[in-house]
Amino acid sequence: MSAGQNFYITTPIYYVNDKPHIGHAYTSLACDVLARFKRMDGYNVHFLTGTDEHGQKVEQSAEKAGIDPQKFTDNVSQNFRDLAKAMNFSNDDFIRTTEERHKEACQAIWNKLVETGDIYLGAYAGWYAIRDEAFYTETELVDGPNGNKIAPTGAEVEWLEEPSYFFKLSAWEDKLLELYESNPDFIAPKSRRNEVLSFVKGGLKDLSVSRTTFSWGVPVPNDDDHIMYVWLDALTNYLTAAGYPDMEKQSFKDFWPASLHMVGKDILRFHAVYWPAFLMAADIPLPERVFAHGWWTNEGQKISKSLGNVIDPLDLIEKYGLDQTRYFLMREVPFGNDGDFAHEAMVGRMNTDLANDIGNLCQRVMSMIFKNCDAQFPEFGDFTDEDKALMTMADEALVKTRDLINQQSFHKALEAIWAVVGEANRYVDAQAPWALRKTDIDRMKTVLYVLADTIRKLGLLIRPFMPESADKMLDLLQVSENSRDFSAYGEVLKSGVAIEKPVGIFPRFVDEEADA
Ligand code: ME8
Ligand code: MG
Repeated sequence: MSAGQNFYITTPIYYVNDKPHIGHAYTSLACDVLARFKRMDGYNVHFLTGTDEHGQKVEQSAEKAGIDPQKFTDNVSQNFRDLAKAMNFSNDDFIRTTEERHKEACQAIWNKLVETGDIYLGAYAGWYAIRDEAFYTETELVDGPNGNKIAPTGAEVEWLEEPSYFFKLSAWEDKLLELYESNPDFIAPKSRRNEVLSFVKGGLKDLSVSRTTFSWGVPVPNDDDHIMYVWLDALTNYLTAAGYPDMEKQSFKDFWPASLHMVGKDILRFHAVYWPAFLMAADIPLPERVFAHGWWTNEGQKISKSLGNVIDPLDLIEKYGLDQTRYFLMREVPFGNDGDFAHEAMVGRMNTDLANDIGNLCQRVMSMIFKNCDAQFPEFGDFTDEDKALMTMADEALVKTRDLINQQSFHKALEAIWAVVGEANRYVDAQAPWALRKTDIDRMKTVLYVLADTIRKLGLLIRPFMPESADKMLDLLQVSENSRDFSAYGEVLKSGVAIEKPVGIFPRFVDEEADA
């Protein structure tokens, strides 16, 4: 274990044009699981999330709502904070791009890029999609449903002609390719890395980084007619939160470069091409890794406001429970792939993996200890090969889980944990402690002890995913607060410690309609 190391993980900062939905919850959840795991593994973690509040899209949404943009962003940003609380995210900071600290950081990086000669004044003439806050070339456009040209993402585009500052992106093509070559893990997963590579190999044009036709943004230093392009502003948030422009600050020394930027596949290009180019130009060290996960649909359909099928994570929490929702999102879909939300699948996971597999295991074992061992952890005798096999498997599960979490393979980490759950259930059935009660009480005690200690390890392993349920499990097991991290994984339960009457932790989903 690498105790005392720093780990800085970030979510995208979300646009405040709209209410948070399952997609936003998903990205932040993945970061939360990783942050919690790393903390339990002894790391000094900084977990950042926040909101992206400038730009034309937000300005238009505010206008549409008839509210001044600052007030509008105050309101919507609060929804994202509320979501973080409701989802039990453990973020250490919540950044808003309208904060003073951020304006300062944006202007500092701008000045630096002017100083290095990477920003110059010109004029932009081309296509722009407000929904994506992105520029598109003529050749990138595709035919829309009404015979009009639209962005490849489906967003409407408009023609822009205005004076603009440009970032010399074209000058960084070779350096970017070198970066991808020498750091094969910089972009994950692999398939996404290949997409970025071919995009950059296709040639990079200089990037327009300022706008003059609206005003909701960070002013360009020394040129009041321009505000900064919202993506230069937004990406800089990762630096701001570390303390930039004060590069001598302890937080900057500790946490920059970031360990991982977690993003959806829609915004990989900004993070894997533009961002490292800006940083290289500004002579700032590069983040270690960018992971782009896949896209959620709802019962097979694209999630969109116009289809009216947006999934509100608060509804999921209400309907299925918080940890059930967290588990489902991390377990159902191979992380990196697209995934589908379906009620049926959710209930399946909830009732099978949680209520039946881990819930029953815990309930059965703790009840037997409560009833048959005087409500205290039993003494144990010599371990048989079967005992040792289960104990070894539980020990190895930590090593496996850590390795998978470090690759952001959350679904496989859960699979590895559930392999132990399955083995523990087979062991209960094979050892049949209820039968031993009549034939060999000492052996029964050993079996229950082995099981209880396995459940303790399972509680620790699932804790980053389902913190509340894990803590309930660890409460039942009388595990003290300071033994709830991975440095305590090898500790064992103490025989003779009293337990309380066990309560169920993973309820079944009961369909009210089916019930009525
Ligand atoms: O792009 N499935 O913000 P945004 C999975 N402000 N993830 C989804 C999703 C879905 N259906 N929908 C959204 C922006 N996401 C910029 C980011 S960062 C410097 C600036 C998640 O509000 C996913 O992480 O449009 C995606 O990348 C992000 O929300 C986009 O959020
Ligand atoms: Mg978006």
